[in-house]
Amino acid sequence: MSEHTPPSLPATPAPDLIGQVHAFLLVWYAAEQRDLPWRATNDPYAILVSEMMLQQTQVDRVLPKYQQFLATFPTLEALAVAPTAEVISAWVPLGYNMRAVRLQSIARQVIAEYEGRIPDSIDELLKLKGIGRYTAGAIACFAYGKQVATVDTNIRRVLHRIFLGIEQSRESDAHMLELAEQVLPPGEAYPWNQALMDLGATICTSNNPQCSGCPLQEPCQAYQEMCQHSLFPSGTVLRQLRKVAEKKPAYQPFTSSNRYFRGRIVDYLRTLPAEQRVPLAELGPRIKPEFSSDDFPWLQKLVKGLARDGLVDVADEGVRLP
Ligand code: ADE
Repeated sequence: MSEHTPPSLPATPAPDLIGQVHAFLLVWYAAEQRDLPWRATNDPYAILVSEMMLQQTQVDRVLPKYQQFLATFPTLEALAVAPTAEVISAWVPLGYNMRAVRLQSIARQVIAEYEGRIPDSIDELLKLKGIGRYTAGAIACFAYGKQVATVDTNIRRVLHRIFLGIEQSRESDAHMLELAEQVLPPGEAYPWNQALMDLGATICTSNNPQCSGCPLQEPCQAYQEMCQHSLFPSGTVLRQLRKVAEKKPAYQPFTSSNRYFRGRIVDYLRTLPAEQRVPLAELGPRIKPEFSSDDFPWLQKLVKGLARDGLVDVADEGVRLP
């Protein structure tokens, strides 16, 4: 393709195929859906909290924290006026603590610019700093019942396999969203989006899909491909067939990654009395027993990054939670 050729859009799947997939998946979801607390509410604030938590954390780890967080900050207003240090503390042990800071800044923006009401349209939701297209779609659909498509990692994988076949290259986000819009069942966006997530989390998993128990085995394009190649659908086969274009970052053990130490810093600062600062020289050995003066520039960089993300407050005397 020349660099001037616009990327081709996927052809709309055949209506018969779409209809069959709708019927099978919605029936399956009605019987097998996971009982998750954020599905028992349409409070936009609760949905926002759940979606921010679920962005990088598995459902079973989010479950206890979701209820606890809402008990601590029952309303958007309560979250907006809380000290940021308390919000970060309430987020532990989910990790990726920046999400807590972002969530609070979203709450504050909603109060300042939307009179405390979380908007219901994708366009307005996207104006909230920290909300991307997936979360905007999830809130519009799950809180306000809007008939909109939304694509997260699970939905992307499931839609690709069903309608496009085994993932041999990475479709653009725009293509996948367009496909999701093309196949959205009218009036059923809520169960459809939730069902795609459930199927992706429980059956159509990335490396070990359980095709034998899948309600979409018959219409699934990826399954057909594997049958044509006389391949027993398995994780090994999928991995061999998939030359996923996604570049994975080089492996870095979790314990030596900066993310790990960012988490350690925040965890340690949480143990200090409110507003108390700790000098960097003292902080270093607290988070890394073998800390030496050579590690100082590294620690300064980590702390600077945390400050940029709003997770710590830095001054000459030392660091504390904001
Ligand atoms: N991951 C993100 N949103 C979710 C939801 N509403 N249910 C289950 N898993 C999810």
